[in-house]
Amino acid sequence: MYSQLCPASLWVSLLSLLLLCIPAAQTAKCPQQCVCDQIQLTVTCINKNLTHVPPTVDEITVKLDLRGNNIQELPTGAFKHTPYLTHLLLQRCNIRRVKEGAFRSLGRLVFLNLANNNIEILYQESFDGLSSLKQLMIDRNRVEEIQPGAFSQLGFLNLLSLTHNRLVYIPNMAFQGLQNIKWLRLSHNSLNYLDTEAFGGLFTLTRLSLDHNELQFFPTETMTRLPEVTRLDLSHNPMTYLGEEAVSMAKLTHLFLDHMSLQDLANTAISKSPSLTHLDISHNQLRVVQPFSEGSPMLARLNLAGNPIYCNCYLRPLREWAIRGKVKLLGTCGGPAHLSGENLQAVHPPELRCQSQEAMLKAEFEEATRNIPPPTEEPENKVKCPANCVCELETHHSSCEGRGHTKIPRGFSPNTRLLDLRGNQFHYVPSNSFPGVAQVVSLHLQRCKIVEVEDGAFSGMKQLIYLYLSDNDLTSLSADAFKGLPQLTYLHLEKNRFTSFPKGVFKLVPTLLALHLENNTITKLEPGILTGAEGLRSLYLTGNAIDQVSPRALDQASDLDTLHLGGNKLKVVPTEALSMAGNLRDLRLSGNSIRWVGPNAFQPLQGSLQELYLNNMGMEKMSQNSLAGLGPGLRSLFLESNQLEEVPDLHPLTSLEVINLADNPLMCDCPLLPLRLWIEKVNLKVRATCANPPELRGRRVKDVHVFKACPGGESLPSTPTVTPKSAKAPKATKPKPTHLKNLRKLKVFKAKSKRGPNPKRATVKKTTKRGSMA
Ligand SMILES: *[C@@H]1O[C@H](CO)[C@@H](O)[C@H](O)[C@H]1NC(C)=O
Ligand SMILES: *[C@@H]1O[C@H](CO)[C@@H](O)[C@H](O)[C@H]1NC(C)=O
Repeated sequence: MYSQLCPASLWVSLLSLLLLCIPAAQTAKCPQQCVCDQIQLTVTCINKNLTHVPPTVDEITVKLDLRGNNIQELPTGAFKHTPYLTHLLLQRCNIRRVKEGAFRSLGRLVFLNLANNNIEILYQESFDGLSSLKQLMIDRNRVEEIQPGAFSQLGFLNLLSLTHNRLVYIPNMAFQGLQNIKWLRLSHNSLNYLDTEAFGGLFTLTRLSLDHNELQFFPTETMTRLPEVTRLDLSHNPMTYLGEEAVSMAKLTHLFLDHMSLQDLANTAISKSPSLTHLDISHNQLRVVQPFSEGSPMLARLNLAGNPIYCNCYLRPLREWAIRGKVKLLGTCGGPAHLSGENLQAVHPPELRCQSQEAMLKAEFEEATRNIPPPTEEPENKVKCPANCVCELETHHSSCEGRGHTKIPRGFSPNTRLLDLRGNQFHYVPSNSFPGVAQVVSLHLQRCKIVEVEDGAFSGMKQLIYLYLSDNDLTSLSADAFKGLPQLTYLHLEKNRFTSFPKGVFKLVPTLLALHLENNTITKLEPGILTGAEGLRSLYLTGNAIDQVSPRALDQASDLDTLHLGGNKLKVVPTEALSMAGNLRDLRLSGNSIRWVGPNAFQPLQGSLQELYLNNMGMEKMSQNSLAGLGPGLRSLFLESNQLEEVPDLHPLTSLEVINLADNPLMCDCPLLPLRLWIEKVNLKVRATCANPPELRGRRVKDVHVFKACPGGESLPSTPTVTPKSAKAPKATKPKPTHLKNLRKLKVFKAKSKRGPNPKRATVKKTTKRGSMA
């Protein structure tokens, strides 16, 4: 009867329309939680909490987007059903392990992104079979080990990016097999050592990024083996000196050595790099720079900005050299007063004078003595070294680690930069224990059973930046213990026996930025503990026995950025003390016994606080206004493992990226409606579960119906569905642009800072676009 109403032709066209649409959707396989585009052959399954690679993805798919799932482990042959893939996106999937041969069938893949996962080890065959791969991103994981041969099958790779991982060391031939690699990115790791052949076999590499690591010396030998590199970035490494012919790279044109701790550079430092045109040594501590020696390349640009360049007669040769060679100088004079702030490029050589004949002679004399090679540079490359120690000429490292010394050895080369004495039995450190080693930057005295550090123990160590006294038996420090350390920046006193804060010793170390006192037994923080250390940025007090914080404790802490107080005995949030630390960004109170957080507890940190840890505290209640003031600044909030039945309204926290509410006995009833509405609004994947009423125990707050009946809850969807999209037929959508995660500002003291109680377990990552939070 129906057909009688419709003209036959219309019926046919209707039918063919149906045939066009429906069969395409029905016959092509599309996993339930995904969106499939049959024209572009893409499958998108973003933020679906998938625990496996969906097995029903259509074989002809070329782009598979699995960002934001919960895959944990990629098994062998994980993609064997989709051999035509060219693009595979696996960011934010909690991947811990990539098994051997996980990608074995993907011989056509050109782009693989594994960023923001938890991968620790790159196994020998992790990337087997990726014979067409051009770009591989493994940024922001936890890679600390690259097994030999891990990249041996990636003969077509152009770009390998391993930034923001935990690499400390690159062994010989780590990247063997990358026969077409152009750019290798290793920025933001903790690299402090590169084997001589670390980059062996990379004959096509033109660009190498090693910035933001812990390299203390220019790795001359290693770099010399990179014949094609034109750009090398080593900025933000703690190097103090660039030695003779340190940079020997035939094709290098751009070299970045900015933001380091350079105090001097040899005038032949770049003489073996004939192609160099751009040298950036900005933001170091250089006062004088000599013109590069004859035979050095003629630079086009020399960036000296941010150095305390002293524009007197000693700078004149550089200025004249720059004029002769048309080298553009960037930067300004740091002194004397009448030239201070003047552009180097604008200063005429005759203006570069030393005040008087006498001053000039004196300065010349000083300069001359400074340039005399130290007498210890002995003939046949032998380096001075005390008995029962090992000293390396090339790296300027000296070590007597764990050799049973009972007295601090003497007689190290005056060029020593790193002195490692850990694991001996010194018991005490007498005055003036380190004569003749004024160049040491890093001194290790961990595990030496030290009970006392005498006044002036380190005097003369003018370049010392890192001092490690961790894991000793110190109970106190005298006021002059750190006398004569004008540059001390990182001080490690964790795991000692301090029962009170070693107040008063910081008067002499105004340069201190990070102070570690974890795992002592300090019981209270008294007024003015930081007197003298007014520039302190990070204070680590996790694992003490602090039950009292004086309101005046942090009086001098206006620059404090990181305060870790986890694992102490606090009963209340020390709000009043915090009011003196108005620039605090990272506050950790985990593991105290703070049962109740009252109104405005963090108000003084409004505008600065980004990370707040309140987990594992047995907390029973947070007042509705407890988070008042913490608006869009807050990025992470950890509240897991408490006794909360309710949580305050989170709506003002519009920029939250991580929140953890797991392991709280939430009461799923109307008072929790604001949380339920908030979850809906931000579309967060929240693991908050109900504990009460009993019939709802274990259900996700997001999935229970009770809230709909509450006043104000009418707008909630009537049937909370697990996967709203599964009801509809798959629709054709273009793949969305790559989700750009808000890069959180990296901690300046990354490698030095020990983390507090592990907050990673069961964190809930924000998985939606920022726009949806507005
Ligand atoms: C995600 O999957 C895991 C494992 O299947 C499950 O325990 C968890 O409850 C899921 N979370 C959400 C928000 O669906
Ligand atoms: C403090 O002690 C705990 C427990 O032994 C340990 O896990 C942590 O790494 C220690 N932290 C430091 C900085 O020593």
